[in-house]
Amino acid sequence: MNEFTFPGTSLTVRRIGYGAMQLAGSGVWGPPNDVGAAVAVLREAVASGVNHIDTSDYYGPHVTNQIIRKALQPYPRGLVIVTKLGGRRPSDKSWQPAISREELVAGVHDNLRNLGLGVLEIANYRVMGSGHGTEEGSIAEQVSVLADLKREGLIRHIGVSNVTAAQLAEAQSITDIVCVQNNYNLAYRRDDALIDDLARQGIAYVPFFPLGGFTPLQSTTLSSVAAQLGATPMQVALAWLLQRSPNILLIPGTSSVAHLRENVAAGELTLSPQTVAELDGIA
Ligand SMILES: NC(=O)c1ccc[n+]([C@@H]2O[C@H](COP(=O)([O-])OP(=O)(O)OC[C@H]3O[C@@H](n4cnc5c(N)ncnc54)[C@H](OP(=O)(O)O)[C@@H]3O)[C@@H](O)[C@H]2O)c1
Repeated sequence: MNEFTFPGTSLTVRRIGYGAMQLAGSGVWGPPNDVGAAVAVLREAVASGVNHIDTSDYYGPHVTNQIIRKALQPYPRGLVIVTKLGGRRPSDKSWQPAISREELVAGVHDNLRNLGLGVLEIANYRVMGSGHGTEEGSIAEQVSVLADLKREGLIRHIGVSNVTAAQLAEAQSITDIVCVQNNYNLAYRRDDALIDDLARQGIAYVPFFPLGGFTPLQSTTLSSVAAQLGATPMQVALAWLLQRSPNILLIPGTSSVAHLRENVAAGELTLSPQTVAELDGIA
């Protein structure tokens, strides 16, 4: 199954998408050294059939969205750009929460302006938690603000990111949730039960750091499986995610056209049950 339709929407995307965070440049702080190279990666993604791009206006800040606009406008029909709200990058380059009503509303307008859109197709409320880890605590106030903005027509659908199962349930008591974006990959599998639960509900699970993020996956098992299959370790890691559950959508990040092509080609790999079992042992 190569495509996925977000629940209760008319949005169907290929399961291999693209995460734009790497385009901002070093430390996710823009501008990148070579804006032309970033534009080329985005155009190659779309030319390769990618129709799901993950971004945020706090990447850069602002710069990543401006590059997406420069590279892809007028946006091709069917392209789904998913963004995130809930963070900000002050001039010391740190990552801070931006969770007041005023900050969330401003964040939506920043995304709309920098992407050149009239409405955000999917906006995730990203819980800042403890960095890349989750932290319990009510998110009702922030999700309610996004639900208000949905009613006002500025957001079409809502997702959540970096959440616990309890926070997801709380968000679902306020509004329909179409996707969850959490940290998960071959080596970091804290969300196994959550993924299965979301699959039963038909909700997309979009792992961030699918290749390990700032510390790319490294494993002798992964390398030896890749060598046997004539693929790269990163392709095997992506193929494993695709086979893990039909509601998993991939948004690997790269600043390289060659890596982008490699990542898209991972969709052609099929892993045998024995290979999956071997890879499962990495976690
Ligand atoms: N919701 C959240 O809190 C959150 C947090 C982090 C990220 N995200 C989203 O998730 C997306 C994916 O996460 P990520 O970009 O941080 O990490 P990732 O996709 O796990 O890994 C990206 C790293 O892998 C390298 N890479 C990519 N393809 C490769 C290949 N084929 N071979 C070798 N190396 C390869 C990239 O370097 P090169 O540039 O050299 O290819 C980069 O260093 C982001 O782009 C962002 O949109 C969301």
